[in-house]
Amino acid sequence: MNKIKFIIREANKSDTEGIAKVVVDAFAEKFRVFFGRRKERAEEIIAKSLSLEDFLEGIFVAEVDNEVAGTINLETKEMKGARGNIPLSLFIKNLGISEGIKASLIKFFMLHESFDSDSCYIVYIGVSSEARGKGIGKALLQRGEDFAREKGRRYLSLAVASNNDIAHRLYQKVGFKDIKSNKNILTKLIFGIGTWIYMKKELS
Ligand SMILES: CC(C)(COP(=O)(O)OP(=O)(O)OC[C@H]1O[C@@H](n2cnc3c(N)ncnc32)[C@H](O)[C@@H]1OP(=O)(O)O)[C@@H](O)C(=O)NCCC(=O)NCCS
Repeated sequence: MNKIKFIIREANKSDTEGIAKVVVDAFAEKFRVFFGRRKERAEEIIAKSLSLEDFLEGIFVAEVDNEVAGTINLETKEMKGARGNIPLSLFIKNLGISEGIKASLIKFFMLHESFDSDSCYIVYIGVSSEARGKGIGKALLQRGEDFAREKGRRYLSLAVASNNDIAHRLYQKVGFKDIKSNKNILTKLIFGIGTWIYMKKELS
């Protein structure tokens, strides 16, 4: 593994564009469904929706040479009320009807329900393609565990697409266990992802 210097820190409002770039890069196939080749527009919309959030608690970034190279977004049940509840009307007001609806749909597909109140849930984790394989993903997961403990949770949990072998193996390597797999016809139709594996790690 090539060494790389990075720091993991809490996200702030000035990171919104950097986070958006990483998220669109990491989940490129999903964004392509909504935006085709207009990657920049997808980035603008993600950045805008992050900037509309009242607070960014539970979002951490990996910084390499002052640039965001990775991000993890965590949530507990209590935080749900405070984050990710941007109404469609606010998206439409800021982005217009068509792109406002797209932003709202993306939000909907990215925010799964946390499946129990003992858990802190990983909404998403992504590392930009050029920074992968250098330990950033593992370090972000470690920060996620620390955050879950700070929040008094017993588990860290997540859902991974059943065809995402790289991420699935990484989670198993750091101690997550498969709990169940769920089929989702909607995500199958839209993204071609029909099965999601729910995983949990018990925190010591
Ligand atoms: C999953 C992801 C976050 C991992 O980030 P990363 O920074 O590359 O991960 P790390 O460098 O910390 O690697 C962790 C382990 O995964 C393995 N790994 C990483 N990339 C790999 C690859 N392309 N092929 C095989 N194994 C790989 C490494 O072997 C490493 O284990 P090791 O430390 O024992 O060698 C990153 O690949 C990513 O952003 N993917 C796209 C988005 C995504 O799928 N997110 C998860 C959705 S649930």
